[in-house]
Amino acid sequence: MMNRRHFLSAFGTAALASSAIPAWSQYLIPEGQVRLVFNENPYGPSPKAIAEVQKILSLSAYYPDSPYDYPIRDDLFDAIAADNELSHDNLFVSSGSNEGLQAALMAYGRTGSVMTPALTYDAHLGYAEALGVTVLRVPLRSDLQVDLDAMEAMIDESVAVVYLANPNNPTGLPIDAERLRAFCRSLGPKALVIVDEAYNELTDDPESDTMVDLVREGENVLVTRTFSKIFGMAGMRVGYGMARPDIISNTFKHIMAWPNGVGLTAAYHSYIDQDFINFSRDKVREGRAMVQKTLADVGLTPVPSQTNFVFVDAGRDAMTIRRAMAEEGVLINAGYEGYPDYLRISMGKLEDLKTFDRVFKRVMART
Ligand SMILES: Cc1ncc(COP(=O)(O)O)c(C=O)c1O
Repeated sequence: MMNRRHFLSAFGTAALASSAIPAWSQYLIPEGQVRLVFNENPYGPSPKAIAEVQKILSLSAYYPDSPYDYPIRDDLFDAIAADNELSHDNLFVSSGSNEGLQAALMAYGRTGSVMTPALTYDAHLGYAEALGVTVLRVPLRSDLQVDLDAMEAMIDESVAVVYLANPNNPTGLPIDAERLRAFCRSLGPKALVIVDEAYNELTDDPESDTMVDLVREGENVLVTRTFSKIFGMAGMRVGYGMARPDIISNTFKHIMAWPNGVGLTAAYHSYIDQDFINFSRDKVREGRAMVQKTLADVGLTPVPSQTNFVFVDAGRDAMTIRRAMAEEGVLINAGYEGYPDYLRISMGKLEDLKTFDRVFKRVMART
């Protein structure tokens, strides 16, 4: 799967280069560009979070803790712990959930290999491989579901960690919660099971889909979450992990010394902003239905997503479509190993999805 940096250098730079925007400002979206490529959520951050951040920006000269306590992080921990019936020693914060995932692989990957679905979110897996960790990739089932039976059959003492994203990226499919619970319980004695719940809050039933009850029961499970998706704060880089205290402290040793105080402030004020959360979820769902309709209009059948992106078999070379879309300023994703015909379209603002509808229909008619 192509990562963000490579994607921008391969396709997204034409407009940047022609308008002579310096490379460091690639965050700025060139006029007219529609960016449906990185599973971002343009409806965030919460206006209350932005207002709170503005109040503390001038304090950014200081590290985000005092000599005696950690007020910003503790407020966030109090809120997360209360919601999940956990305590502070069940939690870590990280620079995006990706840092937490990397840290867990650094902590546990040294003692054995990492098993994961062949098609999944993989930034942290590449990092583990660069450190010399063996990553075992288990193909998805033909219905694109994670093959828990095959993973269970393959597990042996050489495997130290199993990584699953639930719902999975890029398919958008959740894993059946009861089956996943049984899987975590049976594998737990042999390996740490990391359940990446980056999109949990966008599923149809977040409370029954989460594996956080296994954390409360003391199972060998690490659940990660992020402020990048429903909270629309991808640029602020805040994620968190929930696990038994020993898993938290092993993982935390590999997390950078200080979190981002501005990000933590925004995270806390987003987390308690229920109006914003509802608004964000509604907009993502509305956008998802629009994208699904566009795909259906051209005769495609999207995979039923419970996330802020849609995966679809375009029935022809997806890279050709992606390139043709990019030439018209609409960035979408493709290039998934083993799935050359599949596209992934992330949510954008509703007006951007109208542009997607227009351009996609034109491109499909001529490719
Ligand atoms: C399944 C999954 N996990 C984790 C991440 C990383 O998110 P972040 O580091 O912004 O929390 C992503 C990003 O797209 C993702 O799709």
